[in-house]
Amino acid sequence: MRLKPETGVEVLRRAVELGVDHFDTAAFYGPANELLRAALAPYAPELVIATKVGPGVHPERGFYQAMTAAELRTQVEENLRGLGVDVLDVVNLRVGNADSLAERFGVLAELQKAGLIRQLGVSNVTTEQLEEARAIAPVVCVQNWYSVDRRDDDSLIDLCASYGIAYVPFASIADGVATEAAQAVAAAHGISAQQLRLAWTLHRSPNILAIPGTSKVAHLEQNVAAGAVQLTPAEVKSLE
Ligand SMILES: NC(=O)c1ccc[n+]([C@@H]2O[C@H](COP(=O)([O-])OP(=O)(O)OC[C@H]3O[C@@H](n4cnc5c(N)ncnc54)[C@H](OP(=O)(O)O)[C@@H]3O)[C@@H](O)[C@H]2O)c1
Repeated sequence: MRLKPETGVEVLRRAVELGVDHFDTAAFYGPANELLRAALAPYAPELVIATKVGPGVHPERGFYQAMTAAELRTQVEENLRGLGVDVLDVVNLRVGNADSLAERFGVLAELQKAGLIRQLGVSNVTTEQLEEARAIAPVVCVQNWYSVDRRDDDSLIDLCASYGIAYVPFASIADGVATEAAQAVAAAHGISAQQLRLAWTLHRSPNILAIPGTSKVAHLEQNVAAGAVQLTPAEVKSLE
């Protein structure tokens, strides 16, 4: 079921009221940029809106992976237009395969130098690809798939922390298996399984920035509240 625009606006405005200052979007997420713009423009200076390029939707060709400088520039411009800004706060290059990202990241670094982008990040990358990107331009964030039961990136998270790079896990609350241990910890704190998954993720490392997706104000409020849940070392151990 598609989110009604007025519901999206309500969720976004409530998020800002609750102190959320980091949003994740992309032109290829349908009307997400336009929704952010309708809800939050003119944007408060403390808001950071991270967008991403790589996959794109062409009006005639449909879904495609941007590989050329011209395609990447078109995608950056599409995000600028959708969000209604002159400069994008953060642009992630979404990679998602084992190929070298050097050429594409180099294009984004040029667009950064041209003043269209403030900061650069990478998404769906390996440690080797992060290092390849860092050799070209500073990287402020890595956005990868990670959760309490999908921990392939444990060493990458620590590496990012050592570099002062934010690690932004996606899909960290969806599709979780509620183990007996998780049910017990959630019950002890009076929180839901999703809040617990989020609390664990935030607990994992100080350089984690969460981007839980929700279409509901009630879930948003629960997710923000999960940020204050303190897990004991024994609870963390039982979850892991
Ligand atoms: N870089 C990438 O390749 C990539 C890939 C996927 C996603 N992302 C980004 O990551 C964000 C999060 O990922 P995601 O949305 O796939 O996964 P997620 O945040 O782990 O889970 C979202 C799902 O959990 C539900 N949910 C949220 N809060 C809840 C709560 N408190 N209680 C119960 N259910 C709750 C949502 O449903 P309701 O709407 O009902 O709350 C939605 O179905 C996306 O919005 C996107 O910006 C990036």
